[in-house]
Amino acid sequence: MENKKIIFSGIQPTSTPHLGNYLGALKNWVAMQDEYECVYSVVDLHAVTVRQEPAKLRGQIAETYALLMAMGIDTEKTVLFVQGHNPHHTQLAWLLSCYTGFGELSRMTQFKDKSEKHSENINAGLFTYPVLQAADILLYQADLVPVGEDQKQHLEISRDIAVRFNNIYGEAFTLPQAHIPLGCGKVMSLSEPRRKMSKSDENPHACISVLDDRDTVVRKFKRAVTDSGSEIVYREGDDLKAGINNLISIYAAVTGKTVAETEKEFSGKGYGEFKLAVGEAVADMFKPVREEYARIAADKTHLISRMRDGAEKSMKISAKTLKKVCKKVGFLQL
Ligand code: TYM
Repeated sequence: MENKKIIFSGIQPTSTPHLGNYLGALKNWVAMQDEYECVYSVVDLHAVTVRQEPAKLRGQIAETYALLMAMGIDTEKTVLFVQGHNPHHTQLAWLLSCYTGFGELSRMTQFKDKSEKHSENINAGLFTYPVLQAADILLYQADLVPVGEDQKQHLEISRDIAVRFNNIYGEAFTLPQAHIPLGCGKVMSLSEPRRKMSKSDENPHACISVLDDRDTVVRKFKRAVTDSGSEIVYREGDDLKAGINNLISIYAAVTGKTVAETEKEFSGKGYGEFKLAVGEAVADMFKPVREEYARIAADKTHLISRMRDGAEKSMKISAKTLKKVCKKVGFLQL
């Protein structure tokens, strides 16, 4: 790779990507392609830390990959691959797990949340999930990792593991930094605005899927939970205003306007009118993605060939790091 900074990020194919994924991460994935060397992955190995139905998972991996292309990930200039197609990830993850403390993994909030939610299946993969994520990032010597706020802790542990390894063996890994968007690093649920929008939310009105049709998007925004007030004003840190704050942040991110411009535009107007405007803006934003997705998903042969190409390109890059690391720890090279 040339002297451009390297970007790595991943998304789990656990269901159709949503508005939070898009504004928190995927929009930046697309935008960063011109300036940086980007490597993006559909992280199927992470997805099986929670039970998945095999046929459904297969479909979702292909859907997520095609949706990323539909959003504008250009597989000619960017490496887009399915994590499980590149065995270097699990290889490095094993190695890094020997440089990761039980204590530090126990402190991961995602592990605590997920083990509460899936108490019937608290498996070792769920526990070592952040080590695989560190391997994803470090294999490509990534400088920046575009993610939402919820991934901050996983980025910190990735850095900690890299620093520890580098301190023992000398420079092996670039230290990665999280790249989190201002304003939309944490998009909240439309029905419980004090919780983040999440794929696993059981309430269908809480979450906007990238593939929701226009009427569904607008209807969900009309039903979005706000408060008994009426002014479209952003109140930082005011829990009672979490719903309207969220809608203002979404509208600003989608239209490219500032919060102040948004407040001005809707001064004197009520919540109802504003919710409709946010819904329409989001539906307009996703319309071309939906159309492009239908086109890309229809050509399975092309999709598979893009995946194959992505896997090969990713392996070429990751092999270099893996080789270097194996040498440093003292594995006998043939
Ligand atoms: P995942 O699949 O949960 O989410 C994909 C991306 O979407 C962001 N995101 C959000 N951003 C704003 N508001 C929300 N409500 C919201 N929900 C999700 C996430 O922060 C993420 O950037 N562990 C990762 C996948 C992963 C990864 C990696 C990421 C595996 N390896 C290496 C970066 C680098 C995850 O579960 O993302």
